[in-house]
Amino acid sequence: MKKEKFLVTSALPYANGPIHLGHLSGAYLPADIFVRYKRLTGADILYVCGSDEHGVPITITADKENIKPKEVIDRFHNINKDAFDKFGMSFDIYSRTSIPLHHETAQLFFKKFHENGLLNEKKTMQFYDEKAKMFLPDRYVEGTCPNCGNEEARSDECENCGALYDPSELKNPKSKISGESPVLKETSHWYFPLGNYQQRLQEYVDLMNKEHNWKENVLQYCRSWFNDGLKDRAVTRDLDWGVKVPVDNADGKVIYVWFEAVLGYISATKELSLKLNRPDLWKEYWQNEDTRYIAFIGKDNVVFHTIIFPAILMAWNDNNDDKFILPENVPANEFLNFEGKKFSKSRGWGIDVIDFLKIFPPDPLRYTLAANLPENKDTDFYWKEFQGRNNNELADILGNFINRTFTFAKKHFELSVPERGMLAGIDEEMLNMIHDTPLKVGGLIDNYKIKEAVLEMMNLARAGNKYFNDSEPWKTIKDNKDKSSTTINICLQTIYTLAEIFNPILPFTTEKIFKMLNAEKTDWHFCGRDNLIAGHKLNEPEILFTKIEDEAIGNQVNKLGVFEMEEVIEEKIPLISYEDFSKVQLKSAQIIHAEKIKKSNKLLKLQVDLGNEKRQVVAGIAKSYSPEELIGKRIVMVANLQPAILFGEESQGMILAVENSEGSLNILETSDKVKPGTQIK
Ligand code: 2FM
Ligand code: ZN
Repeated sequence: MKKEKFLVTSALPYANGPIHLGHLSGAYLPADIFVRYKRLTGADILYVCGSDEHGVPITITADKENIKPKEVIDRFHNINKDAFDKFGMSFDIYSRTSIPLHHETAQLFFKKFHENGLLNEKKTMQFYDEKAKMFLPDRYVEGTCPNCGNEEARSDECENCGALYDPSELKNPKSKISGESPVLKETSHWYFPLGNYQQRLQEYVDLMNKEHNWKENVLQYCRSWFNDGLKDRAVTRDLDWGVKVPVDNADGKVIYVWFEAVLGYISATKELSLKLNRPDLWKEYWQNEDTRYIAFIGKDNVVFHTIIFPAILMAWNDNNDDKFILPENVPANEFLNFEGKKFSKSRGWGIDVIDFLKIFPPDPLRYTLAANLPENKDTDFYWKEFQGRNNNELADILGNFINRTFTFAKKHFELSVPERGMLAGIDEEMLNMIHDTPLKVGGLIDNYKIKEAVLEMMNLARAGNKYFNDSEPWKTIKDNKDKSSTTINICLQTIYTLAEIFNPILPFTTEKIFKMLNAEKTDWHFCGRDNLIAGHKLNEPEILFTKIEDEAIGNQVNKLGVFEMEEVIEEKIPLISYEDFSKVQLKSAQIIHAEKIKKSNKLLKLQVDLGNEKRQVVAGIAKSYSPEELIGKRIVMVANLQPAILFGEESQGMILAVENSEGSLNILETSDKVKPGTQIK
């Protein structure tokens, strides 16, 4: 059978800051799992990535720190390369866009397009900061989005609604450098006629979707772009950091970072080819119709990979004999949030990969992220979930199954694979499951359903434990050794299959398991059969997963608390006058009745005694309190709040509560000496 040929890329991260867990879940871990799996199926695959080292944000960082952009990119390229390495990313190359080879590649595309008359030079009005004496491209300008009204929109793109627009359309612009309102001044730029490719791009997306079943979220982004109509895009900028525009009279101009960054995938593959001493190897992938090209990205990068990059490649292919392939699929993920909020560097909300890996090993992180990938909607990383996945799943299910099997094999079978005797129904079932699971898991990964695949993997370990329990080898060893040896033989075959199918998720741990099994990985298609023959010697077992104590998790959660405080201080809560405060009437009250509200898992309906009157209050505390435990509590309530209707129930006040870092609520209580209805001042 002909080997499948793949080219896989992950979005090139900006070398302008350390990557965090959100990045991993978007474009890196899913790709690495896919690639590792495909390698196990025997596919011929190249996986390339690298740092995106141009663009305005890098120059902003450099200006802030009073250093050269080169120092910024060197620092973060190295940090991120190291973080990816420690996380187990198996890139064939991690390149960077500042290398001359990339500049040449990007310039070649630009030059050819220019020579072929594809690019239109147009004079435009652009923001100019008179104080800083410079044109202000892209992100140096902030203002109000003409599409959605977001007041923190960038000069040509809005992160809130995803709109791209001409800088002159931005409302109320401000220079990020001087804070002044910039003026519009004339400059000239080269434009790529993206609109001319609209019809072909739509046909391309339709065809790829038909043949390869694109993700619905990706299709939706594409449709919205097509509906708006594609327009000419400026592909140069006035900036002195980036790939110089390779035509006459273009001093002080560079190629727009997005135009060249996507070409970075090609340059990275060229660099790999040179490293392997096979300079033309890249063509065997990029210019070979048999190659299946999969581009892994996060949702914010969709347009660049489904529209702009394909259009660039189409434009090249129209005018040159050597033709590039286009992405077969762009399985973009949504975002991973952190403990309920967006990752935010400035607010210290989240954790960088490199810092995470100083505290915890990579495999539990890979497993937790993989089991909770934002494949169809945003998801969250919670420290508590991480602890639970490690302790209750990796250690208690997978680790435990392997450990008890090895311990038994050591005690009763001299650490070798025992013979298999007559099979009972339960044995057949287990053998069928180890045969079927790799096929199921493979099918899911083939369709980028990694979350489901992870579930199937762990289900095999669960089944292994159940099989061990139900077979009771500790009993059969005494009176039916044949049966006991059959059980352990099948448990070891199961462990072999687990090691193989978990390999893409847990590369470090499965290496240990293979070592314990004294065996090598095999072709994925064969891993669910008999891989260990009777008599095969095993190695001493090792500890595979260490439980994570509450304290270690608590430390991390507490750190977030500190950041939260800083956030509050930073935000400078506006002061109110005494007069404003005196309008709020706080009173003590006693809860006399509490019940759940149907169809709401958050709300409770309370009857409270306010001394000379009774009131009904609807409170969002159902997740923290049962109705029974509230009866009799003396609480603090806002007594003069306008009534409101919640879930069809009137609420005549509000009770005060404190939210802890895990989101559970503690209501404020007064002592029993305070009579209901007492005013609190
Ligand atoms: O969003 C980002 O981090 C970009 N640097 C991704 C670039 S992907 C490709 F174009 F290189
Ligand atoms: Zn907007």
